[in-house]
Amino acid sequence: MRLLLKCNPGLEDVTVTEAEEEYQSRIREVDVRKGRGRVILEVDSTSLRPVFRMRSVHSAALLSVEEPVGYSLDALKRIDNIARSSGVHRFIPFGAAFAVRSERIGEGHEYTSMDVARVVGKAVQEAYKEEYGVIPEVRLESPSISIMAEVDGEVFRLGVYVIGERSGHRRGYRVYDHPAALKSTLAYGLLRLAEARDSSVILDPMCGGGTVAIEAALLFEDAQIICLDKNPRHIEGAVRNAAAARVVDRIEFLVGDARRLEEIIGNEVVDFVASNPPYGIRMGDPSSVRRLYSKFILSLYNVMRPGGRAAIVTTESRHAVNVARRAGFNVAHIRKVRHGDLWVSLIVFEKPG
Ligand SMILES: C[S@@+](CC[C@H](N)C(=O)[O-])C[C@H]1O[C@@H](n2cnc3c(N)ncnc32)[C@H](O)[C@@H]1O
Repeated sequence: MRLLLKCNPGLEDVTVTEAEEEYQSRIREVDVRKGRGRVILEVDSTSLRPVFRMRSVHSAALLSVEEPVGYSLDALKRIDNIARSSGVHRFIPFGAAFAVRSERIGEGHEYTSMDVARVVGKAVQEAYKEEYGVIPEVRLESPSISIMAEVDGEVFRLGVYVIGERSGHRRGYRVYDHPAALKSTLAYGLLRLAEARDSSVILDPMCGGGTVAIEAALLFEDAQIICLDKNPRHIEGAVRNAAAARVVDRIEFLVGDARRLEEIIGNEVVDFVASNPPYGIRMGDPSSVRRLYSKFILSLYNVMRPGGRAAIVTTESRHAVNVARRAGFNVAHIRKVRHGDLWVSLIVFEKPG
C-alpha cells in the first residue's frame, strides 16, 4: 500500500520517524518531499491503524497514482486520462456522494487547483457511470468520501483521503481558541525535537491555550507537565482545552511571568521545554519582544537541569540564539518550519550537562 502523509512543512523527518515507529519493518520505501510537507510511504501492510495513531500528520491519503504531467495546459488532458483509468471511482460506495479536494504546490502552472478538481471530478463521475451505470453525486459539504488530487511541481498525485476532512491537526480538543494557537502537529514536533521523554519535567512557559502541554500529556503517561502563561484568560482557556482532551488532571497550570521562572518553579528542575513565544511581527514592537526574549531565555537557563533541551519556534532567531549562547546554552539545531503562512525558525538549545 502507498500512503501520502501530509505534515507540517519543515517537519517531514518527524513524520518519517513516527511512521517508522508505527509501521516498523513493514516500511519498504520512504520518499520525502522536503519543505513541501509530504512523506510518501510504501508499506507491506493494509492496516491504516498506525496512520490514525500518528500525531504529526495533518491528513493522509491512499495514493493510487503519481505521474509527471507538466506545467502547461496540456497537463489537464493528461490528468483527465489518469483519473479515468486510476480506479479511484471504485472507492465511492453505491449511492454515496463524493468531493475532490485539490491542491497545487509550486509556481509556473498554466492551470489552477480548481481546474484540477473540475477535471478529476468529471473523469471520476464518467468512469463510475461507465462501470456501474449511474452518476455519483458531488457534494462539497460533508461528502462520504474525499478524493485527493494534487499537482506538486510537475507531478500529479491522485488518491483517496483516509484522514482529511477533519484535518489531523484539529484534534477536537480546542474549545478555547487562543489567537496565536500552535497547530497540534507542530506542538508534537517541538516535543519530539526537544527529545522530551516520559517521567521527566516538561514546561511550556508561554503556553497560551495549552497546545504543547496537552500534546505532552497525550504522549506521555508519567511526565510532570507545567503550562504557564502571564495571562489568566489564556490559562482558563488552557484548562478548558485540557479538560476537553481529558488530560486536565495531568497538567499543572500556573499564571506567571516567564521572565521570572525561577521564582515560580525553582532552580534546575525542568528537563524539557517546548514553546512558541510571541513573534515580534505580531507584537508590533520588535525592541519590546527582544527585551522579553533576553530575560525569558536567561530565566529558562536557570530553571533547566544540566543536560536539558528546549525547543522554541520564533521569528527572532538571531536574537534568540545570541541570548541563548550568552546564557550558557549550546545551540543544538536550527531549521525553518512553516507556521500558518510564515516560515519561522525552530531552535533547539541544550544546557551543558
Ligand atoms: C504565541 S502565544 C502561545 C500560543 C500557544 N502555544 C497555543 O498553542 O495556544 C504566546 C503566549 O505568550 C504569553 N506571554 C507573553 N509574554 C509572557 C510572559 N512574560 N510570561 C508568560 N507568558 C507570556 C502570551 O500571553 C501568549 O499566550
